[in-house]
Amino acid sequence: MAVSVVVVSLTFTLCILCHLVAGEFAASLTGNFELHRRSPEDSLCAQLIRPAGYTCSEYTVQTSDGYLLALQRVSSLRPGYLREQRGHPVLLQHGLFMAGDGWFLNSPEQSLGFILADHGFDVWVGNVRGTRWSHGHTSLSEEDREFWDWSWQELALHDLAGIIQYINSMTNSKLFVVGHSQGTIMSFAAFTQPEIVEMVEAAALLSPISYLDHISAPFVLRLVNMHLDQMILAMGIHQLNFRSDWGINLLDSLCDGHLDCNDMLTSITGENCCFNISRMDFYLKYEPHPSSSKNLRHLFQMIRKGTFCKYDYGKIKNLIVYGWLKPPVFDLSHIPKSLPLWIAYGGNDALADVTDVQHTLKELRSSPELLYLENYGHVDFILSWKAKEDIYDHMIGFFKSLGNYGSS
Ligand SMILES: *[C@@H]1O[C@H](CO)[C@@H](O)[C@H](O)[C@H]1NC(C)=O
Repeated sequence: MAVSVVVVSLTFTLCILCHLVAGEFAASLTGNFELHRRSPEDSLCAQLIRPAGYTCSEYTVQTSDGYLLALQRVSSLRPGYLREQRGHPVLLQHGLFMAGDGWFLNSPEQSLGFILADHGFDVWVGNVRGTRWSHGHTSLSEEDREFWDWSWQELALHDLAGIIQYINSMTNSKLFVVGHSQGTIMSFAAFTQPEIVEMVEAAALLSPISYLDHISAPFVLRLVNMHLDQMILAMGIHQLNFRSDWGINLLDSLCDGHLDCNDMLTSITGENCCFNISRMDFYLKYEPHPSSSKNLRHLFQMIRKGTFCKYDYGKIKNLIVYGWLKPPVFDLSHIPKSLPLWIAYGGNDALADVTDVQHTLKELRSSPELLYLENYGHVDFILSWKAKEDIYDHMIGFFKSLGNYGSS
């Protein structure tokens, strides 16, 4: 076992090094910028949402640390509607290696973004820094190492905070937040902050994550055990992009003979009951989106240590950055008891493990409404072909139970 891990690490390291030497890494980065060049057609509204017959507009949110995030606003209002007819605002916050497109990848009858719009909600779609839709900064370029110097704690305290504040000021209203996976990590962390949570009416969390120490996904555990996070940072790789030549080579070398990559998705997310395999090519047009190596490292720290806290720089730098040897924790008991929460989790979810979900629930002061789906894996919560009846109808019932929100 130990030997095979070492062999994999060596193979992998050699492979990366030879590509670095061959200059292919630099070439792949350049190719990647092509993909990221913006034109009016290269927007989420133009590509996925308007073609389905929905009204969609694009906004740019500037975070307090200078990132420029794309935010879409979607409704199914016919032309000639009155602005006052807009329903209650709902923010959709995607997970790791995904972006706002993830909420619109199935048919309008199956996808949460479209379904909420059909129910009259004023749907806002978040896209975190570094994703295909949100890659600008006031002073940094993607080539700069500092551009990728963040983890989910910045996504929570700058991106999510900035997005929530923007919607709040545009609509003059508190909003509903829907998060999936990393979107729930961001939500839990942000909701511990009084100045953010006061703008939130209620939240629905899909595959909720705050603790990760019971993660069971074999592929992820393999990467954790071989210290992939430390390795890529030590090699000076700060952007984590599986669409680059470099990222594809990495996956190839990891998979070579050691793991059945025919079922890579299952070995990362758990067995998904209702994944429409014939849409795979379409999904791969959009996913995966880039993230940062530092973010991966932060997530791996959570898996190794079982903590829900800020990024661990090591004792000395922690002392400088945080004034304490250990990184400060995000204390779930600081989330106000008065915030209505609705949580859906799955028995086959290899990332949001049931034991970890129970740990999260124990630390919350409120008792969220729970929906347990025994045969749901991590991706089913977004892409299941029957998520509407299994999950979304219940979620919408929860939102509507809180007051006279939305209309049909
Ligand atoms: C699966 O995807 C195919 C191709 O887009 C589509 O024709 C089919 O209706 C989908 N199946 C279900 C159950 O939604």
